[in-house]
Amino acid sequence: MAAMIADPSLAARAALAFWRAAGVDMDEAEAVFAAPRPAPARQPAPQTSPKPAPPPRRQAAVASPVENARELAAAAGSISELKAAVEAFTGCALKATARNTVFCDGVLDAEVLLIGEAPGKEEDEQGKPFVGRSGQLLDRMLALIGLSRKSNLLISNTIYWRPPGNRDPTQGEIVACLPFVERLIVLSRPKLLLLTGKAAAHTLLKREDGVMKLRGRRFQHQTEAGAINAMVMLHPAYLLRQPHQKRLAWADLLTAEAWLDELGAARLRAGLVP
Ligand code: URA
Repeated sequence: MAAMIADPSLAARAALAFWRAAGVDMDEAEAVFAAPRPAPARQPAPQTSPKPAPPPRRQAAVASPVENARELAAAAGSISELKAAVEAFTGCALKATARNTVFCDGVLDAEVLLIGEAPGKEEDEQGKPFVGRSGQLLDRMLALIGLSRKSNLLISNTIYWRPPGNRDPTQGEIVACLPFVERLIVLSRPKLLLLTGKAAAHTLLKREDGVMKLRGRRFQHQTEAGAINAMVMLHPAYLLRQPHQKRLAWADLLTAEAWLDELGAARLRAGLVP
């Protein structure tokens, strides 16, 4: 067995000497050994100071549900587009438990816009506001002053999805839907805005007084496009529970009727309402 040579360069030199002794010109090969050995590659000096912290990564801005609602509402140029925007909106948790989005019903260019509170069971099933018992009472009341969703009235709500068990909507739910409500008012620019119930009255008039104090009075609702005439009426669901208060509701209807006449708003003759 051949002996192991520890240093390979020794073996090479021995080979050179052998060939030189044999008369072979080995100058070129010798030069390789004479040349200085290349210095080993430098290791980078160890870092003594701590690495500077990388610049903080910009967080991608995540829009809040309200910002998202504002953007969607502002982009809607018509009530039909606004309806599509509300249907696409996912920032109100009520949507997860509701069957349908309940946006509006009636005549899109009506001079009177009524805003209620939130859909109940029947509204949730049919996807239309005020179609249950309280809605039927509302239709009969408004017919007395010549208003009908079939010819001169648009109806909507403060909230577009039914709160489970018909509980009151929370402030968060109201705030999430508000940009759409505001946009509906701006797009329809009604001569008169009728607000029925506490949620609509407090949210849009920005007042804390009870409905009994607010009802039947003339207000101005401020929008980005100017002031809109507004009046609070008792909610028909309340009147179903408290039928003796219908006389107050009747007084409110007469106030609304007089104001509509002053404003020159189109009304049907009582009795002709479909
Ligand atoms: N009550 C409301 O306020 N809105 C509806 O759509 C139905 C009942």
